[in-house]
Amino acid sequence: MRIYVTKDYAEMSRKAANIISAQIIIKPDSILGLATGSTPIGTYDQLVNWYEKGDLDFSEVVTVNLDEYRGLGPESPQSYVYYMRHYLFDRVNIKPENTHLPNGLNENAEEACNDYNELLNKLGEQDLQILGIGRNGHIGFNEPDEIFDQDVHCVSLTNSTIEANKRFFEAGEEVPKYAYTMGIRSILRARKILMMASGEDKADAVKKAFFGPVTPLVPASILQLHDDVILVTDQAAYSKCANSTHTRHTAYIL
Ligand code: PGA
Repeated sequence: MRIYVTKDYAEMSRKAANIISAQIIIKPDSILGLATGSTPIGTYDQLVNWYEKGDLDFSEVVTVNLDEYRGLGPESPQSYVYYMRHYLFDRVNIKPENTHLPNGLNENAEEACNDYNELLNKLGEQDLQILGIGRNGHIGFNEPDEIFDQDVHCVSLTNSTIEANKRFFEAGEEVPKYAYTMGIRSILRARKILMMASGEDKADAVKKAFFGPVTPLVPASILQLHDDVILVTDQAAYSKCANSTHTRHTAYIL
């Protein structure tokens, strides 16, 4: 695993955008696995900026997002489909029909998950999967558990995730308790994985995920078993790893 430790959030975002942009330039019809949350916002901004300058072309890019809240659709500003349009899709020349997320408006969980699984299988593996990390080590909405869930599934969100997500909702508004998410197999089948982490509140999760044992209690730890993972982290999120070593990791301090 290659680890890039950047000075701050802005540098992390730029480095991650560099990697995504290289992927699109090398393979214009790349399938990108995309993530939401606060972490990738700066990265998407940077990609939009390069697109506006004429340096990036999304016309052949295909995207599959990690997850979506059950019960929320494009009209809801808290849905991930809304987020993706707002931060990226509506700002670049990607074809709307090439962008995919689980259908949060289908409340029939089994059907919604089967549909998304089928779509992922039909499209084929992601060339590059982007990930953030939760404070509890989750990836997508794969929460700490006794087992690693494999394919797209419906999850009941943990209290800590519901609490963390409250900041995106108005006071008194209900934070959804369920979400549809790619499972660990759907994530690991990507050819290349780019994880981003920023801020001191991620330091514990980053240390456990990349320098601790591989366990479903820290879902991101499974990434240690993938052959092509790049972690781009700022110093704050890496602060607890500074003295850690791992035979499979090479760290570059930028
Ligand atoms: P955040 O969430 O980017 O909003 O911190 C990351 C995650 O929970 O995966």
